[in-house]
Amino acid sequence: MKNKFFAFFAILLFISCSKNNIAQKNDPSKDVFIENLISQMTLDEKLGQMTLFTTDWESTGPTIRGGYEDDIKSGRCGALFNSHTVDFTTRLQKIAVEQSRLKIPLLFGYDVIHGYKTMFPIPLGEASSWDLKEMENSAYIMAKEAAASGLHWTFAPMVDISRDPRWGRVMEGSGEDTYLGSKIAEARVKGIQGNNFDKADRLIACVKHFAAYGAPAGGRDYNSVDMSDRVLRETYLPPYKAAIDAGALTVMTSFNDVDGVPASGSKYLLTDILRNEWKFDGFVVTDYTSINEMVSHGVAANETDAGILALNAGVDMDMQGAIFQEKIKAGLQDGRIKIAQIDASVRRILQIKKKIGLFEDPFKFSSKEREKETIMNDAHISASRSMAKKSIVLLKNNGILPIKKTVNQILVVRPLADDKENLIGAWSGSGEARHCVSLLSGLKQNPLAKNIVFNYVKACEIEGNDKSAFESVKNRISGADLVIVAIGESKDMSGEAASKAQIRIPGVQEELLKMIRAEGKPVVTIVMNGRPLILGDVKDNSDALIEAWWLGSQAGNAIADVLYGDYNPSGKLPISFPRHEGQIPVYYNHKSTGRPFDPTSKWNTKYLDMPNTPLFSFGYGLSYTSFKYDKPMVNKTNFSADEKLIASVNIKNIGDYDGEETIQLYIRDLVASVTRPVKELKAFKKEFLKKGESKTISFELNKEDFSFYNREMKWGTEPGEFDIFIGSDSDTQNAVRVTLINKNK
Ligand code: BGC
Repeated sequence: MKNKFFAFFAILLFISCSKNNIAQKNDPSKDVFIENLISQMTLDEKLGQMTLFTTDWESTGPTIRGGYEDDIKSGRCGALFNSHTVDFTTRLQKIAVEQSRLKIPLLFGYDVIHGYKTMFPIPLGEASSWDLKEMENSAYIMAKEAAASGLHWTFAPMVDISRDPRWGRVMEGSGEDTYLGSKIAEARVKGIQGNNFDKADRLIACVKHFAAYGAPAGGRDYNSVDMSDRVLRETYLPPYKAAIDAGALTVMTSFNDVDGVPASGSKYLLTDILRNEWKFDGFVVTDYTSINEMVSHGVAANETDAGILALNAGVDMDMQGAIFQEKIKAGLQDGRIKIAQIDASVRRILQIKKKIGLFEDPFKFSSKEREKETIMNDAHISASRSMAKKSIVLLKNNGILPIKKTVNQILVVRPLADDKENLIGAWSGSGEARHCVSLLSGLKQNPLAKNIVFNYVKACEIEGNDKSAFESVKNRISGADLVIVAIGESKDMSGEAASKAQIRIPGVQEELLKMIRAEGKPVVTIVMNGRPLILGDVKDNSDALIEAWWLGSQAGNAIADVLYGDYNPSGKLPISFPRHEGQIPVYYNHKSTGRPFDPTSKWNTKYLDMPNTPLFSFGYGLSYTSFKYDKPMVNKTNFSADEKLIASVNIKNIGDYDGEETIQLYIRDLVASVTRPVKELKAFKKEFLKKGESKTISFELNKEDFSFYNREMKWGTEPGEFDIFIGSDSDTQNAVRVTLINKNK
């Protein structure tokens, strides 16, 4: 079978060389082999390459369309998603290369978001590590496992900036900050795609959801997005651009409209910005049925019009909508679209199939041996544990952590203490709960726990009002030296289509904590969740509070490493945690306004009933040790835009433990032609300092760091004063002032 396939494409290649080499000389972007293939394709086969269907393996959207095997045979579907494992993909690929007329291999995609089988923390959790190398590595491992299971393409990274924790999909991104989000986007693309596909251990990355999907009005998924071009370009677009600059080969459109135009029909986004400004030369796929949805958006009278709008805007592949396959031919007849546009899309798609080697070997990614030796091997499990430890954020500690040697009896209280299902998190794809280490198992099996006696009790469910077990919890507290309470969300409470207007811990879990606290024993609260929650009362009722997100396969071991002090926590929040839903959106890089907050007078920007600030700010996170920062220094206080500015700071570990600190550098432009944020993250470094150790940390800043869109929407610098802050979170006031001088004056 393989031989027949090779013979077919060898002949094609031979004919191509003689026939089309002139065409290639004229246009180097045209590959002879691909041009020849396109020249043999019928219109239906071309539209088939532009069509992506889900299999019936699982569902990630509202409509499942059957009959995909017939579509593969007739060449009317060139890519499938929700299709994985060597057995399944091999079976489908055989249909394509043995039974379809042109034998063009299928592309297999899947939402491999934070792990394939070895699950890593949810992306928002990983983002809390601020550890770019580690995130690149976890992306590589997930790609490697998925590629060994027959997959070619993941719908990741999701790089949507979001300032709204009501939106359930914050769990899938990197939080609220453009700079951190861009760095993480770059790291994840590098991890997923690497430099080549030679070893079939990488996947094609798909940056999503282009654009501004993270800013739906009211935090409600799929809702409208309306923002100025300035905010779009300064805050929301840079992470997509960073991912594309890092080499991402595909881009997914978003469901939402931006300024009145749905993204899947936006020429401004898909052609003007993506292709013309950013020079993106991969292919654009829609989100799930988002072409069809342009009818509901009310910008297309019917599905044919919607398809034509999408193609003319710059979409190459239709996910699950069957609009390209079934509806857009009419546009060719009446001249609203041209065959050259269809050819251009087919060309982009085939080029990527060729790039990953599918024409040489359509089964390149499907090897039983590789699947067996790669999935969940020891190195992957230990990488997951390491990533999980680094993703944990210590939010409060009255000194009871790490757990002292004098603690002999611990009472562990669920709902989430022995949970596995929820700890692998939303968007866990093919990840399996049975491979997950629960908190209780992690605590018990750690060698540091050998003298500790554990009791555990289920107090309530995650949701609901049932408090009937509270009394039995109360009765068991007296014997304990320490109580560990694991509360939070179930995995379906954050993620797609999981927006919430109230983001407190659900059910009676907070009451449980209050009841336990009243008994007077030291309480460590572990929160497991997908989004920032309102944690004011939880904080007050805990002696120590840990944000553990959904940490993946090694969750329990990683939390135990932190609780016993085997690992000193170093995570920092990538998104602000509000005090109350009424503050949303609350984020660190807001503008100062004409009436900045002033507690001593009435007439300025504030709430009457609450501070403006979040409960926990962006960049915040404690360690078992503490770091002392000296005042920042600069190599020159007056500098011009073409000079580099070196800003540095001396820090010292003044606590009792070795530990890692994330040193954060923010700037503030004091006077500009447009209002500027009160602070913007521009650089950060992670440094490990032994107890008592001092280090000087330096950052190099350049013109880009001081640039912004001016009043005429031109990108560049303006002379004037800037404050440069260096500290341990976004609340830092540790600053030095510098002046950007105009060299010509
Ligand atoms: C989601 C995408 C996802 C796609 C395919 C959509 O509903 O918005 O992020 O990649 O489904 O599963």
